[in-house]
Amino acid sequence: MKRQKIAAGNWKMHKTLLEGQGLAQEIRTMADSELMNDATLMVFPPFIHLQSLAKQMEGSGIIVGAQNINQFEQGAYTGEVSASMLTSIGVHHTLIGHSERRQYYNETNASCGAKIQTSLKHGITPVYCIGETLEERESNRHFDVVSAQLTEALAGLSNDDIAKCIIAYEPVWAIGTGKTASAEQANEMHIHIRKVLSDISSAETANGISILYGGSVKPDNAQSLFSMSDIDGALIGGAALKARDFLDIAKAF
Ligand code: 13P
Repeated sequence: MKRQKIAAGNWKMHKTLLEGQGLAQEIRTMADSELMNDATLMVFPPFIHLQSLAKQMEGSGIIVGAQNINQFEQGAYTGEVSASMLTSIGVHHTLIGHSERRQYYNETNASCGAKIQTSLKHGITPVYCIGETLEERESNRHFDVVSAQLTEALAGLSNDDIAKCIIAYEPVWAIGTGKTASAEQANEMHIHIRKVLSDISSAETANGISILYGGSVKPDNAQSLFSMSDIDGALIGGAALKARDFLDIAKAF
């Protein structure tokens, strides 16, 4: 099965609404005139931009998604945003379990699993983020950590549901540090991820899932990453805040 190639920009807590609209417009215009390959572009701006940007990107093929979602349907959860709120404004994708959310907001494999289930129930595609810390890699636990992140969050899902997920492997030590995993290091982990996915679903399901790499992806390292057998795209932080860099990464497939 041919896997979807994806360049996804995680804007994190950057850009005012006006700046975000400007960046979205630049991305749309550049993609229209320059993007000749079959890459899918996704942007994940802050919550308050979503309604405006989802509308702005209509008809462009560029997907606008959320950076987080709450696992509950509704209720007394001050400051949170539900799945049906997202779908009500035309948003059908969300990041889940980004390492910054695990680190600063106590997200766990179990809470990520609950968010994944809620998303799927509402027809929202989860981009499930996983990855080890430097200490975990240096103590040679990186494969086990990533296995647990996958099995503890995805166990119990049907093959059909697992097939709807996108996985983003982001080694924490490579995020915002300028240190990219080498293409070989990243691909080695992507192969491991696909093996774990195959064990909890089927080889066919696992072969169809897009696995993105994230962590200091830039125009000058994108091509070597994308040339690897199991790297299907990138989840981009800093470089996604510049339309030129984001497009140059998308053009590197
Ligand atoms: P950088 O590309 O800035 O390293 O961020 C990666 C990331 O966390 C994307 O989600």
